[in-house]
Amino acid sequence: MALLVDTGTNGSLRNTEIAATLRQHLPTADIRTPETIGASDEITMIAVGALREDYPQRLPNLKLVQKLGAGVEALIAHPTLPDHIRIARLKPDASAQSIAEWFLAYILRAQRQMRFYENAQSRAEWSPQPPAFAPDTSVGVLGLGHIGGRTAKMLRAVGFRVIGWSRSPKQINGVTCLHGAAALPDLLGQCDHVCAILPSTPSTRALFDADLLAAMKPGSQLLNAGRGDLIDETALIAALDQGKPAHAVLDVTRQEPLPSDSPLWHHPGVTITPHVSGWHLGNALSDVAENFRRLEAGAPLLHEINRELGY
Ligand SMILES: NC(=O)c1ccc[n+]([C@@H]2O[C@H](COP(=O)([O-])OP(=O)(O)OC[C@H]3O[C@@H](n4cnc5c(N)ncnc54)[C@H](OP(=O)(O)O)[C@@H]3O)[C@@H](O)[C@H]2O)c1
Repeated sequence: MALLVDTGTNGSLRNTEIAATLRQHLPTADIRTPETIGASDEITMIAVGALREDYPQRLPNLKLVQKLGAGVEALIAHPTLPDHIRIARLKPDASAQSIAEWFLAYILRAQRQMRFYENAQSRAEWSPQPPAFAPDTSVGVLGLGHIGGRTAKMLRAVGFRVIGWSRSPKQINGVTCLHGAAALPDLLGQCDHVCAILPSTPSTRALFDADLLAAMKPGSQLLNAGRGDLIDETALIAALDQGKPAHAVLDVTRQEPLPSDSPLWHHPGVTITPHVSGWHLGNALSDVAENFRRLEAGAPLLHEINRELGY
């Protein structure tokens, strides 16, 4: 059994670094990179950023594709990856904390009118505005999984009224938990901020179309750190022009990097961050090592995804 590390676009230095870290966790394991691939029929697991199209054919005994990240939509849609090959992802605590902080930061920026004061200061203008108050503010959290659950709890701890939404029923202390498509328009109509942290699946892609955006509360803010294809961006710009929502904070966009001619860059109601909300990964590679051990032992894997659900 051998583990191949190929981050794809990140290049060989990154592969060597990741392989070195994995060797610290698995001192006796056979860990390879594309430069040291050797006999390809010995490779049973591959750790990837993106999976090259020829790998499933080149690695006849491949059993597990371990994504070195969270989103698995490209692996599920991979043109040559057979269904019997398992897929696992990472769920680092550090990344969940990092994304929850990103949501909190941009919500507080709006609550305390920080953009307004930065502009006012540049004009030497003293112009007090009433701030919004967390206990009077409703925040929706769409997706109550690893990251959304952490976000809902953090926002609740700060004092916001939090309404969460997921596919299946959930219980989180102090958070009103709703589930299912029918509950969403009503939730959007109540919330001052909506934090989306959903996977890209057939049921979430383009979920935020013109109709759903029209259900948002006037003056509200939509924040998306999940996947860019959640939102119809043309419909979003039209909705922003109507003030429903009034502002969008996007860490993810349909095309990344966001093309320089995208109208999102210059729309006054849009704030862009370049897919950095989940920057911190902590010691996520220890789970990759653990999955290699579990694969070898025939034990249940960490964070294996369900191809049918798409996450
Ligand atoms: N911007 C970044 O840097 C960054 C970093 C990491 C991850 N992400 C993105 O964030 C996504 C979520 O990550 P996670 O770790 O929190 O995933 P997760 O633990 O799998 O949670 C996904 C959540 O979405 C809910 N969900 C899925 N489909 C739904 C639907 N059709 N309707 C309602 N709720 C639905 C799930 O509901 P159930 O609880 O009922 O299953 C679950 O609560 C990832 O898939 C990835 O695309 C982005």
